[in-house]
Amino acid sequence: MSFQVIIKPSDRVFEVEDGSTVLDAAIDAGINLPYGCRNGTCGACKGQVLAGEVSYGEYFDSALSEDEKKVGKALFCCAQPLTDLVIECREVEGEGIPPRILTVRVEKLEKLSHDVMGMTLKLPSNERMQFMAGQYIEFLLNDGRRRAFSLANAPHDDRFIELHMRLVASGQFTQYVFNEMQEKTILRIEGPFGTFFLREESTRPVILVAGGTGFAPVKGIVEHALRQGLKRPMTLYWGARTLEDLYMDELPRQWAAENRLFRYIPVLSAPEPEDGWLGRTGLVHEAVLEDYPDMSAYQVYCCGAPQMVDVAHRDFQRHGLPKGEFFSDAFTFANPVAKIPA
Ligand code: FES
Repeated sequence: MSFQVIIKPSDRVFEVEDGSTVLDAAIDAGINLPYGCRNGTCGACKGQVLAGEVSYGEYFDSALSEDEKKVGKALFCCAQPLTDLVIECREVEGEGIPPRILTVRVEKLEKLSHDVMGMTLKLPSNERMQFMAGQYIEFLLNDGRRRAFSLANAPHDDRFIELHMRLVASGQFTQYVFNEMQEKTILRIEGPFGTFFLREESTRPVILVAGGTGFAPVKGIVEHALRQGLKRPMTLYWGARTLEDLYMDELPRQWAAENRLFRYIPVLSAPEPEDGWLGRTGLVHEAVLEDYPDMSAYQVYCCGAPQMVDVAHRDFQRHGLPKGEFFSDAFTFANPVAKIPA
């Protein structure tokens, strides 16, 4: 059994399965209602029930008073519909989600390849960080510097924050992460930031182009899109030097095996003889152009080294990709507040 929810003033509509909260169902539907803790503590998800009945769930009185309940307020992270609903609340998009400073604990460090570390961060038990798949966070280091990394998980799976870090020879922070950091280390982050997220209002087929750890935000975007049920074709080109650099190769292969609308094309620029590579070779953006000489009907999301992103942007436009249909999130080595794999 499910209930229909209409949001005012946008008139967007989504379904809530029995047993699910209004907020969880909205996130699954790709609708960004505001939230903070997702457990009835902070009050950030409070909105108005204009029509229909909810069960309020368990929450702290400080987040929702009896007087507020009497006038139809509810916490959407706890409230479950008992009937179809009309609710009134704010919706937030991308840069509209205010960044917050949070203290996090390193839950897990796992080497994904010789030079990529998977880092899982845990937020305090009554905090969640609202974000859109593909955005990034910054670490606030003790000396005032910041180091930025893309979020590799999707919002429906936000109990932890997942990052993929590539070791950079001259990068003090990643050297520290690879050589000294222990699990349970406490760090401060600020986020989310960035405009690299799926434009869900578009119906254009999507081409995702990732270079190296540029796969991280792309993974978040794909997992978010799959969670909602893919509605338009998506093709991922993941470029790397050697087979080992495709550090999660099985995952996009699995997405492709399970979803008719998703295709995965790995491209190696310098495969090792022992890789026994029979797949595509060369530069990843050139592989895209070989397959799509006319890009006028597509929408592109591109993340990787700045040279790759720049060249892809230029060449894709030469092949008809309309201005405004290219979204990128280039790694930058020089700018201390930009997103860097260092
Ligand atoms: S009370 Fe914090 S998100 Fe609902």
